[in-house]
Amino acid sequence: MKKTNRAILIFLILSLCFNLTACSNETGSLKDDEERLLSVKNLTDEELLNSLSLRQKAAQMVQAERAAITPQQAVDYGVGSILSGGGSSPTPNTPSAWVAMYNEYQSKILSEDQIPVIYGIDAVHGHNAVYGATVFPHNIGLGATRNPGLMYEIGKAVSEEVRLTGLNWTFAPAVSVVQDIRWGRTYESFGESAEIQKLLVNPYVRGIQEMGVAATAKHFIADGGTSWDDNSKTHKIDQGNAILTEEELREIHLPGYLEAIEADVDSIMVSFSSINGEKLHGSQDMITDFLKGQLGFEGIVVSDYQALHQLPGTFEQQVITCVNAGVDMLMEPHNWKETINVIVNAVENGDISMDRVNDAVARILKVKRKYNLLDNPISDQNTQDLSSEAHKELARRAVRESLVLLKNENQILPLKKDSNILLIGPAIDNVGYQCGGWTITWEGSPEKSLVPGVSIKEAFEKIAENNGGRIITDYADAAQADCVVLVIGEEPYAEFNGDNGQLDLYSHTSMYGNREAIEQAKETGLPIITIMIAGRPMVITQEISGWDGFVMAWLPGSEGGLGIADCVYGDYSFTGKLPVTWPKDQSQFGYNINSPDYDPAKVLFPYGFGM
Ligand code: BGC
Repeated sequence: MKKTNRAILIFLILSLCFNLTACSNETGSLKDDEERLLSVKNLTDEELLNSLSLRQKAAQMVQAERAAITPQQAVDYGVGSILSGGGSSPTPNTPSAWVAMYNEYQSKILSEDQIPVIYGIDAVHGHNAVYGATVFPHNIGLGATRNPGLMYEIGKAVSEEVRLTGLNWTFAPAVSVVQDIRWGRTYESFGESAEIQKLLVNPYVRGIQEMGVAATAKHFIADGGTSWDDNSKTHKIDQGNAILTEEELREIHLPGYLEAIEADVDSIMVSFSSINGEKLHGSQDMITDFLKGQLGFEGIVVSDYQALHQLPGTFEQQVITCVNAGVDMLMEPHNWKETINVIVNAVENGDISMDRVNDAVARILKVKRKYNLLDNPISDQNTQDLSSEAHKELARRAVRESLVLLKNENQILPLKKDSNILLIGPAIDNVGYQCGGWTITWEGSPEKSLVPGVSIKEAFEKIAENNGGRIITDYADAAQADCVVLVIGEEPYAEFNGDNGQLDLYSHTSMYGNREAIEQAKETGLPIITIMIAGRPMVITQEISGWDGFVMAWLPGSEGGLGIADCVYGDYSFTGKLPVTWPKDQSQFGYNINSPDYDPAKVLFPYGFGM
């Protein structure tokens, strides 16, 4: 071979090698890492941390969405965590398919001696993404129960169902303290006061974690304190700005976190929102100094879904700001590869310190160790039935205790079991409506049989049939009825899609069909009992004067029909108390128990009311 030809050949080989290395660096897999793990199992946390390369550590800090990462990628890149975002489920959506999907990730990871992932999901009112789970009332209804013992049992039940699908981490409970019911996430909050947080958060977290699932207190902090913004196009109040004094922050929004930390909560999710104009995802003061420093939180601080994208600057700068603020695990469902690269480069450039990375990874490994993920992450569950009779019974009890009786003229309730009832309204026979958002999909769905459950009509019919009564659903037969039960409310929604500045029975989030049913009920001239299926109070000051009875049922879940029938027919008494103030009109939005001039006589029903 001539000299020049040899030189060209060497050049070609070299540039090919160079390109290959550049490619693999660009994609950021661990393939080129010299330091491969020998065995995760036999190392202490400290040894494990010390044995990791920078790239492995950076990858531990990243959480990818299941639909955006294959098991092979999970092991090639070494991500710390995988999540199922709202509605991200395997097909078919059965417990065994969840277990198989989860095990596929973990076994691939184990086969290459890498660190198992921790798998997170929003089990916020039961293991609600999975078909066949028990769907409990949303938090607002649980707030109405004021029952810590019940909360503990629910925490355990939800956790048990999560474990049956193999998963290890739930993004619950929301310890949001809603201050303005126009917020689309009102139903995820236990109510407007710190008093309810002090009752329910600790037992709920304990219940979840005792059964082997890491809990998450969210969204840190004051997500429930944001103000309505008429000028915002999409997020009128959700993800907004909370204008607060330090005293308000400590008295209203902090107690839930203190309770969660006291219960040794494993993680805390940062809020999309801002406090006095500062985005929480970039706030070193709030995350590092206050939460980790002053409050001594030792678990994982996780970012919310792509929330760091709302920080100023380029993606690189956003990641750096967020990590330096103190976030340990970055929920970057789709940008997970880039996120790993940014962290690696930032440490190499000195923009993120190695100490900060070590702190984050140590926290993540600690939680993985706690739930035995480092030793044995494989799930041996093999069930077809997620829900059990005991869990359904617990959910039914929770429904009963969550119902708030707000009006009962002439003792119209309880109804006699042999009455002939005209049952009308959009929500009489719809389990999807009963469950609301965060059910199977992110926003839920108004499907009659969205999940297995019992509708109001089904539960009432059973009682009537056994006692010589009749449930009439055809308005043409109204003349044969003794009274009307009218079931109206709000459509399912999630997050900012539920922001609503009107909150009357006919606007935006209200159920299509409310108006017609309300008018029909009135035309019968019969006594009317109204049951509301909604995530929050709606303005009803005009309409309620024509109703004899009024029950707020919140979003009661899969066993909603049964729990409602238990109280409406008098087998159990109503015991629920309002967890939020019920406004008289739109001018009272934001007026609540924490308002300095709070006057119970001014509102339609005050906080704490319930007959
Ligand atoms: C929500 C969180 C949730 C996350 C993951 C976000 O949009 O704000 O509450 O945990 O999605 O699904």
